[in-house]
Amino acid sequence: MDLTSDLTAEQTEMKTTKDQKTLLAQANHYINPSSGGIVPPIDPSVTFARGDDLELIGNYVYGRYSNPTYEQLESIVCELEGGEKALFFASGLAAIAAVFETVNMGEHIVAPKVMYHGTVDWLKRISEKRKIGLTLFDPTDPSALTQSVQAGKTSLVWIETPINPSWDVIDIEKAALAAHSAGAILAVDCTVASPISTKALQLGADIVFHSATKYLNGHSDLNAGVLVTGEINSRWEDIDTVRRLTGGLLGSFEAWLLLRGMRTLAIRWERCSESAMKIAQFLETHPAVEKVMYPGLPSHPSHDIARRQMTAGFGGMMSLQMKGGEAAAREFVSRARLFMRATSLGGVESLIEHRRTVEGPHSEVPVNLIRISVGIEDVNDLIADLEQSLSSVSIS
Ligand SMILES: Cc1ncc(COP(=O)(O)O)c(C=O)c1O
Repeated sequence: MDLTSDLTAEQTEMKTTKDQKTLLAQANHYINPSSGGIVPPIDPSVTFARGDDLELIGNYVYGRYSNPTYEQLESIVCELEGGEKALFFASGLAAIAAVFETVNMGEHIVAPKVMYHGTVDWLKRISEKRKIGLTLFDPTDPSALTQSVQAGKTSLVWIETPINPSWDVIDIEKAALAAHSAGAILAVDCTVASPISTKALQLGADIVFHSATKYLNGHSDLNAGVLVTGEINSRWEDIDTVRRLTGGLLGSFEAWLLLRGMRTLAIRWERCSESAMKIAQFLETHPAVEKVMYPGLPSHPSHDIARRQMTAGFGGMMSLQMKGGEAAAREFVSRARLFMRATSLGGVESLIEHRRTVEGPHSEVPVNLIRISVGIEDVNDLIADLEQSLSSVSIS
């Protein structure tokens, strides 16, 4: 079933001219061709019937291959990113694993040594088990990525930007040049930048990834991941095969919830970017704070790249390092009354976490580092909560 086949000329024109805020708010100007309903429906079917001639009635066979609810979702994200095709998965890591699955024994992957810890853990595991070369580069060194690629051997460069939890911004255009010069593809985890602010495919990436659990959904009530490709080629077909055969798909209900969550993505992003900037400026002047890491601050080492690459705001993620070491950092987090003590990011509610506690004993994150995800609450309430927590911490 082509959900858009019965569009009037006016609707078709609307679909080709709109801004991303309009695209999202209207779920790509969705109008149900048979009922006129303006909300995309949920289709929970996992199998699809054939007529008495044994031909399929629609274009669907079986839920593990495709389903109208997540195809609708995929078409919106694909358009948002300016890509050729999108594929949704049951979680961010399921999507990441599908990309790594396409790397063959003897090939080589390049990735930053600091990024979302689950991605690093998975990369280390598969490179060891499958005899794939792995170089983890220092993302704070501008020439490290170029020096890490091996012409003819590196087949995948994976980057994350901004990088968790320092929020260093990697220059996607430069990374694409480095990857392509070695004959590799560039895949970019843009979860923290959101598709509102960074258009990785337009900057030269081959594949862009989002943990849709975060900003895309925005309500902390489902896990999902999405990949969007700039070109349909053999690697993309391989990724599609991995999804079809391993079944790492999100269910129709989650896809539908995500369609609904994405309608407010642009406005949520705008609000959390504005509030985060005010909070970062407040924290930077507080005597109990040693350092604030937020790409929107001129003091952040990546600020110039961020201003160029993050074209619609710097988002809601920041870290701070406390004076007084680990004890002070833990005490600060424990005093929060409004910020919720939980991991994750990109939801409407603001979260605070002592990152080393969340990542575990193998973490290389500084012991005094606190990670904050700014939501859409009143910014003065949020600053007041941080102020009361900070003022009650004893710094020796
Ligand atoms: C930057 C980033 N990438 C990927 C993931 C993995 O996504 P998921 O939790 O949806 O599997 C996360 C999760 O926190 C993340 O923060």
